[in-house]
Parts: sequence; structure tokens; C-alpha cells
Amino acid sequence: MFHTSVVPRLRKKQKPEEVSRQEKIKFQDVRIFLVETKMGSSRRSFLTHLARSKGFIVEDVLSDTVTHVVSEGSKPGSLWTWLKDCALRNLSVMHVVDISWFTDSMREGRPVPVETKHCIQDSMPDIPAPDPVTTPRYACQRRTTTENHNKIFTEILGCGHSFEVDNILSDERYQTLKLFTSVFGVGPKTAEKWYRRGLRSFSGVLAEPSIHLNRMQQSGFLHYGDISRAVSKAEAQALGSIIDEAVHAITPDAVLVLTGGFRRGKEFGHDVDFIVTTPQLGWEENLLTNVISRLKKQGILLFSEYQASTLDISKLPSYRFEAMDHFAKCFLILRLEGSQVEGGLQGAEGDNRSWRAVRVDLVSPPLDHYAYALLGWTGSRQFGRDLRRFARLERRMLLDNHALYDNTKKEFLTATSEKDIFDHLGLEYIEPWQRNS
Ligand code: UTP
Ligand code: MN
Repeated sequence: MFHTSVVPRLRKKQKPEEVSRQEKIKFQDVRIFLVETKMGSSRRSFLTHLARSKGFIVEDVLSDTVTHVVSEGSKPGSLWTWLKDCALRNLSVMHVVDISWFTDSMREGRPVPVETKHCIQDSMPDIPAPDPVTTPRYACQRRTTTENHNKIFTEILGCGHSFEVDNILSDERYQTLKLFTSVFGVGPKTAEKWYRRGLRSFSGVLAEPSIHLNRMQQSGFLHYGDISRAVSKAEAQALGSIIDEAVHAITPDAVLVLTGGFRRGKEFGHDVDFIVTTPQLGWEENLLTNVISRLKKQGILLFSEYQASTLDISKLPSYRFEAMDHFAKCFLILRLEGSQVEGGLQGAEGDNRSWRAVRVDLVSPPLDHYAYALLGWTGSRQFGRDLRRFARLERRMLLDNHALYDNTKKEFLTATSEKDIFDHLGLEYIEPWQRNS
């Protein structure tokens, strides 16, 4: 085993030119990320130094370029919960291994092939622990309402981190990253960059002249108080009426549905998610840009970022899990008048403003992908993960927000409703409000 006490000796021996010679990269295809939790920062920096001296690439930041995530002493459940919250696109193809893979590789002086004994398995974080006899293994085989589940875990707002993970990662770095990523438009990479520059607070970030905030981040800071406050069901319904009016003024036979947490019956959310589509294939994209223009004319558009569709049917099915789907979508901040909300605004205490800012997402799939988009965007995130895992492992099928592909028959399975998808998977239909796992 390695001990931090050998670090000074190692450093003293090395002359600068030796370091650069020794740190020549030998293994281009392997990019290691060492999870610091439990390991501690001094051991992590020692292991990083050691691996680099043997020609390995060790990344300081966890990103999609990482191939091997190495953890020591973390509980598998907590590690996986944390990894899934990192919004990685390539998580499904990364090796998540324990320190034995790393030590084997250091001993051999090359990356050893990953074997089962090295892998940290994704044990589904069931809370409370499931009864093996009566509780089905997959969340998509259970009915989980907002009522019958532990409130603490279903009503967490923000980025969905569980308290368990918060406790384990309660160091300054984690708290700062959490603070920074709570701003709309600030992802893990930017947060990490600011942290490494020594910034620890919003005022620090805003006072730093060399930091350039993009449009989304500027709006994120501008409306921080409003958009970090929970959105009520009444507010979501009021926004539904406003958007419904806009959508139908443009395309009378368009379909608009409230999705996300509110479709699952939640009383509060961090944003409001809608799916909009039209019976005429191809019209759905223009619809979204027209809705944006209309909201702008009404003077209620505080921010919008439109993403055109990147859907390419010939590239499906996708074998890697992607954090984002390919449908046309827009991320909005809308101005909502209190007078339009039944019972008034969900305001901060002592706040008598007549309006608040709310985050709204609109997604616009073509009608033939609508059922899959609706299932994906209704969530919950955990329910979706489990449904995809069930499809892959139990049915040899690939499910995502776009389609379901049968690997045995080598064909896509069409669906016009969510019920069709459950049928294809051989699962009993589970209502949206029972998908709160
Ligand atoms: P949200 O993040 O809005 O979660 O994504 P939520 O369940 O509505 O919870 P709150 O109340 O807003 O915090 C809604 C669903 O859309 C899926 C997610 O998996 C989630 O289940 N989603 C989100 C996607 O499929 N793709 C995305 O790009 C974003
Ligand atoms: Mn939502």
C-alpha cells in the first residue's frame, strides 16, 4: 500500500527535467479520475503524482472524457448517487472501479484490464431497504406516490442531492460547488473553475473582473432569488394557461401537456416542464420559435435559450446514455403576475412584489416520438433510470427519450401512448403519480 509519508522523499529526489520526462503520457486512451471522498486530499494528490509519473493521465475534474473513475472506501450506493448527479453523458460507458484496479495498474506499470472484481456495482439506492420477497427489484415495477414515500427523499428541491451524500461530501469544496451550480447556467465545470481560482461566494464571483458570465448565467444571477424558490402547483397551472393560449393562437390543433414533477402530482417544483407537439410532422419546431416570439411580445419573456432539434433517426438507437435528448427545446425564464395565480404567488416572507420569475422548459418532439418524450420528461429521474435498466437487462431493449429498440428483433417499437411502451416492456402500466421513486 502507498503512504503519504513517502511524498516528500519522492519530491526531493526529482529534478524538474526528470519530472517532465517521467510524466510523458504513455497511455492516451485511459483517463483516470480519483474520487477524493474518503480517500482524502493528500492521499489523492500522492496517488495522482504516482500515476502521472508512470505515464498515466489523471484528470483533476470529473468530465465526460474520463474513462476510469477510481474510488477508495466509498459506499457503492452513495458513490453512484453522486455520479448520477454529476450529469455525465458517458457514465454508462465509464469504468467505475475500486482502488484495487489502480494499485494493480501501478504495480504492472500499465492499465490492467478491468475485471469484475475491480468493479463497483451500481446497487440501486433503495430507501428504505427493499424487502427481497415482496418488493420488485426495479422501481418501474412498483408504484411510488408522493405520499407513500419518505417525504424527505421525494420533496427535496434543487438539484436532487440526497442528504446522505451531502453528509459524506460536506467539505468546503463540495459546498462551494453546490452553491455555484445552484445558479441557472452554471454547470460542474464552471463551478470547479471558479473554485480553483479561489472563489467561494457569489459576491466573490461577481466582483472578479476577469470572469465573463454568459447570458444564461447573467440571468441566473439576476433572478437568483426567484428561481431558487419553489414553484407551486397553482403557479405551474397559471403558466400552463399562458403557454396554452400562445401555443393555440399559433397552431389550433397543437397538443400541450404539463410534464415533469407536476405531472407526477408534486405540489412544488424547481421549474415547470411542458411538452408541445402538433399532428403535422415537422411543424413542431417552428411552433416553439413562434411561441417564444409571442411571449416576448407579451413582455413576459425574461430569458430564453432555444435549441434546435438535433434528432437524426439514422443515429438511433443510441448505445450510450445521453443526459440531453435531441428534441427541439427551450429553456425560459418567464415573468408571472401574481394576479394570474389562484391564491397568489409563492413569495418570500415580507415580499409584496406583484410578480416573480419562474423557470420553464418547453420540449417539442415530433408526434411519432411524443409518447417516448412524455415518458422521459415525466420522470422521475430515478424511475427513468430504472426503466432503462429494466429494458436493457430484462428485455434486451434500448429505451431513451426518443425510442425503444428491440435488440432481439432488431427493430424500433412504435408507441402512441405511454401505455404502449409499458406493454412493449411487458410491464403493468404505472400512472404518472405512481412514478415518484
Ligand atoms: P426536472 O429536472 O425538471 O425534474 O426534469 P422534475 O422531476 O420535474 O423535478 P423538479 O420539481 O422540477 O425539480 C423532469 C424530467 O425530465 C427529464 C428528467 O429525467 C426528469 O425526469 N429530463 C430532463 C430529460 O429527460 N432530459 C433533460 O434534458 C432534462
Ligand atoms: Mn421540473
